[in-house]
Amino acid sequence: HSIICIVGARPNFMKIAPIMAALNALKPALEVTLVHTGQHYDVAMNEQYFQALGIPAPDINLEVGSGTHATQTAEVMCRFEAALEGKNPTAILVVGDVNSTIACALVATKKGIPVIHVEAGLRSFDRGMPEEINRVLTDQISDMLFTTEPSGKDNLLREGVAAQRIHFVGNVMIDTLKNNLPRAISARKIASDAGREDFLPEDGKYAVLTMHRPSNVDDEVVLASLINTVVSISNQLPVIFPLHPRTKSMLHKFGLEKLLDTPNILLLPPMGYLEMLGLMQGATVVLTDSGGIQEETTALGVPCITLRENTERPITVEQGSNTIAGQNPQAIMAIFDDVMRTGGKAGRIPEYWDGRASNRIADLIAIEFGIPRAS
Ligand code: UD1
Repeated sequence: HSIICIVGARPNFMKIAPIMAALNALKPALEVTLVHTGQHYDVAMNEQYFQALGIPAPDINLEVGSGTHATQTAEVMCRFEAALEGKNPTAILVVGDVNSTIACALVATKKGIPVIHVEAGLRSFDRGMPEEINRVLTDQISDMLFTTEPSGKDNLLREGVAAQRIHFVGNVMIDTLKNNLPRAISARKIASDAGREDFLPEDGKYAVLTMHRPSNVDDEVVLASLINTVVSISNQLPVIFPLHPRTKSMLHKFGLEKLLDTPNILLLPPMGYLEMLGLMQGATVVLTDSGGIQEETTALGVPCITLRENTERPITVEQGSNTIAGQNPQAIMAIFDDVMRTGGKAGRIPEYWDGRASNRIADLIAIEFGIPRAS
């Protein structure tokens, strides 16, 4: 038996690490290989993650790089199809919702190769979001679907996915979080390494901001308004802001960098995994438009303000520490003020976010494909 695992973009890396480790425990009956599509290629966006998480070097790198959605998706498809030439894997395994996820799933299913989708069934119900299209389509052509929260199964059943294909296993991102928390790097060290040992106040309190969704950063008026809101927040609490390449280039394009040139905002390059973990863990509050960070803050019990109108991860609001704020400055400030006054939502840990999701996945894959256990 053999399974080809696929990664492409940053949020895939922390999901694949524990899955590959769990699948590798099925050796020698199972051969596990890794294909990197090259959707993310900067050192800060990928190599740092491979190193920090101990992900094996990819067996194949398709080196697709950036492009329009059509170009990027099509390039992955063409190159992945060629890479499958002469191979007859038992299945391919994709994670998440990036362009590489749908591209590889589509190639494999048309070749008659079963597709395993980890993190299936999440829905924002916002088709303006490229990831939502990727999620809906990938789930329709997947053979085994692993969900992170109960909403996933409800969504899949409503879309006609057969119940026996759906498996609620929990959240592999939280496996990675638990494995790496002891090695997390503190904000104080990060600020000091950036030459700003004076950045954090005596009490050590700070906010973390991440932002990269096209809906937040590609429109000048929206981006300017969000940045002005962040500046207001920084008057009360210092803000650490690692910049995604897309956001950096948009700030430059619209000439908005100067707004951020204040002593209470620390701009940083994209952080490695252990740095980001430490930043979140020590934060008073995290502001983000990321999907994964909504989950990680829930697992850490740190209040999260989501700068989006919706979430595909409703459990982080229902049970976790997340609040949906949208883009409106008053709404964001009201939630921020509440966090400052009350400490914000603590929440509780959702079911199966226990660090064992990858083991459940490997067990179910072994049963599904009849892969014998080593002992
Ligand atoms: C992608 C995912 C998004 C995920 C995000 C996390 C899709 C549709 N989107 O968005 O779901 O949350 O990754 O980071 O797949 N760039 C670099 N270096 C890189 C990669 C990108 O400079 O290593 C720049 C390029 O200018 C590129 C832009 O960032 O055009 C966007 O990259 P792309 O991979 O298209 O999408 P992301 O916005 O990163």
